[in-house]
Amino acid sequence: MYRWWNEAAKINAMSAILSNRQNWDTNEFFESGREWLRQHFDWAASAGFSPEGTRALDFGCGMGRMANALAQYYGAVVGVDISDEMLRLARENNRVGNVQFVQALGPPIREPDESFNLVYSTIVIQHIAPPFNLEAIADLFRLCAPGGYVLLDAPSHKLRATDGEPGAGIFLAPFQMVFKQAESQGLELMALRNFPATATRHYQYLFHRLKRER
Ligand SMILES: C[S@@+](CC[C@H](N)C(=O)[O-])C[C@H]1O[C@@H](n2cnc3c(N)ncnc32)[C@H](O)[C@@H]1O
Repeated sequence: MYRWWNEAAKINAMSAILSNRQNWDTNEFFESGREWLRQHFDWAASAGFSPEGTRALDFGCGMGRMANALAQYYGAVVGVDISDEMLRLARENNRVGNVQFVQALGPPIREPDESFNLVYSTIVIQHIAPPFNLEAIADLFRLCAPGGYVLLDAPSHKLRATDGEPGAGIFLAPFQMVFKQAESQGLELMALRNFPATATRHYQYLFHRLKRER
């Protein structure tokens, strides 16, 4: 994965991240991050989410498209990625002062337990093969602070047995296993949606860790 993403980043990083266009304009690419985040937060808000607290993590940050968007809402954003070439581009294109980019070759991410108010990831888990996809999710749950949220998406299952296999390099993380992991780590499911509406159920999850009673 490390080699694949590094090579892809050298050839055309923005199209490796968002493959619907081959010739991204950098400003439009970053603007798409702000628009995606606005849509994700609007949906999460309907389940009670609001961007509170200071620290956010963007897992699989790529060029920092979503990390830069998150920096509008949080005082300190950490973007982590497996690819040092993606991280080099993220630093080169960074537009804000409150984002830091760090390499993570695998779990655990070197951050203390329960240290982020928002743990965020989009279009990343789908690229991690089992059982590492669930290990990565478990590590993201570990990082969620009391009162904080985890907002992530991952493909879960084929809707019908007759549906084709997911595309090359796309791996499933069955929702039952995601729920079980969340429950064992003290997180509650707040909202779930099929996102986007594809034949393979690709869910976006919003989890919450309750504040502890004093
Ligand atoms: C499709 S891109 C998405 C980037 C970013 N989330 C966005 O939406 O702009 C997937 C990113 O996940 C990173 N990635 C893949 N496997 C990873 C892993 N095991 N740990 C951390 N990052 C990973 C890749 O290097 C790549 O930058």
